[in-house]
Amino acid sequence: MNKKRLGQTDMYVNPIGLGCMGLSHASGYATPKEEAIEVLKKAHEIGYDFYDTAECYTGIYEDGSIANNEEIVGEAIKEFRNEIVLCTKFGVTHMGDHLEFDSSPEKIRASIEGSLKRLQVDCIDLYYQHRMDPKVEPEVVAQTMKELIEEGKIKAWGISETSEEYLRRAHAICPVTAVENRYSMMARWHEGIIEACKELGITYVAFSPMANGALTGAYQDKSQFDNASKQDFRSNMPQYTEEGIKKTNELLEVVNAIGKKHNATSAQISLAWMINKHENVIPIPGSRKIERLASNFQAGSISLSKEEIQEMDDKLNKMEFKVFGGH
Ligand SMILES: NC(=O)c1ccc[n+]([C@@H]2O[C@H](COP(=O)([O-])OP(=O)(O)OC[C@H]3O[C@@H](n4cnc5c(N)ncnc54)[C@H](OP(=O)(O)O)[C@@H]3O)[C@@H](O)[C@H]2O)c1
Repeated sequence: MNKKRLGQTDMYVNPIGLGCMGLSHASGYATPKEEAIEVLKKAHEIGYDFYDTAECYTGIYEDGSIANNEEIVGEAIKEFRNEIVLCTKFGVTHMGDHLEFDSSPEKIRASIEGSLKRLQVDCIDLYYQHRMDPKVEPEVVAQTMKELIEEGKIKAWGISETSEEYLRRAHAICPVTAVENRYSMMARWHEGIIEACKELGITYVAFSPMANGALTGAYQDKSQFDNASKQDFRSNMPQYTEEGIKKTNELLEVVNAIGKKHNATSAQISLAWMINKHENVIPIPGSRKIERLASNFQAGSISLSKEEIQEMDDKLNKMEFKVFGGH
């Protein structure tokens, strides 16, 4: 697999990155700590070298105690810290029924100290603003990032769920290395930002690249989710209504036909679709299961032709999806 350069930095990573969120957040009860650490260690053996976590990826274990994703990642990566690019995010607090955004310089300063401690590192490779904060101008956030880079606390920075205007304003003050926005076959509304990133030399990191699992074809019924915990966000996602599943299956027919030619699963084709389509896109699929992690990673070796991508895009252009986070 050819490694991809992150923005204009000297950091290079494999074409498929690792979303660590589901181990402790949004997917039901958190995976028991030792098991989660094992998954993250195995991921490194598989070849993953781009780990994505966040300050707010907390959840609960089955016994009611708090699970903290950064702590789990920090513990897991100790032995191979220097072989991976470590990313985390600041600026979002989950308040139960809503999110709170705070990207003030004071809050960022407090957040970075907490993240460095939980991750057990003295520098974060890629530090994302998790969401735009309407109370703070992008120039102010970018200036704070510039200072953190000069102080050696972070190597580079990025923005998650940014608009193009915000990105351009921030980039003018301190070059942005990566944008991390939602992107999948079923969530294509940021394709304009992918083009802006190409122009600016910025990597586009695609989160929820398999539409929160819908494109794997593995979920045909909501009862498969961990509803007892009330912590499984997938239960309320529009792609998992009866209508959403029906539409997804219609798309999967085309995806699977192409998958057959490559001896690949729909999950793999959905990832290969975006990396073959855009040189600067790196998807970060997540899974708590080692076999799935291994299979997803292999998508980085699949070469799709322009005609195959076009065939899928033609189908997508005729469809409209209701997807979590959608417009
Ligand atoms: N910046 C942001 O605001 C933001 C927001 C959301 C997510 N993210 C990042 O993006 C990462 C991935 O996003 P995501 O987890 O929302 O969505 P995703 O990667 O599109 O899908 C993950 C879901 O698919 C399942 N899955 C994974 N591989 C599979 C396979 N091969 N076959 C069948 N099922 C499979 C997983 O379940 P199992 O665990 O049971 O395998 C999980 O439910 C997160 O870990 C996080 O780091 C960032």
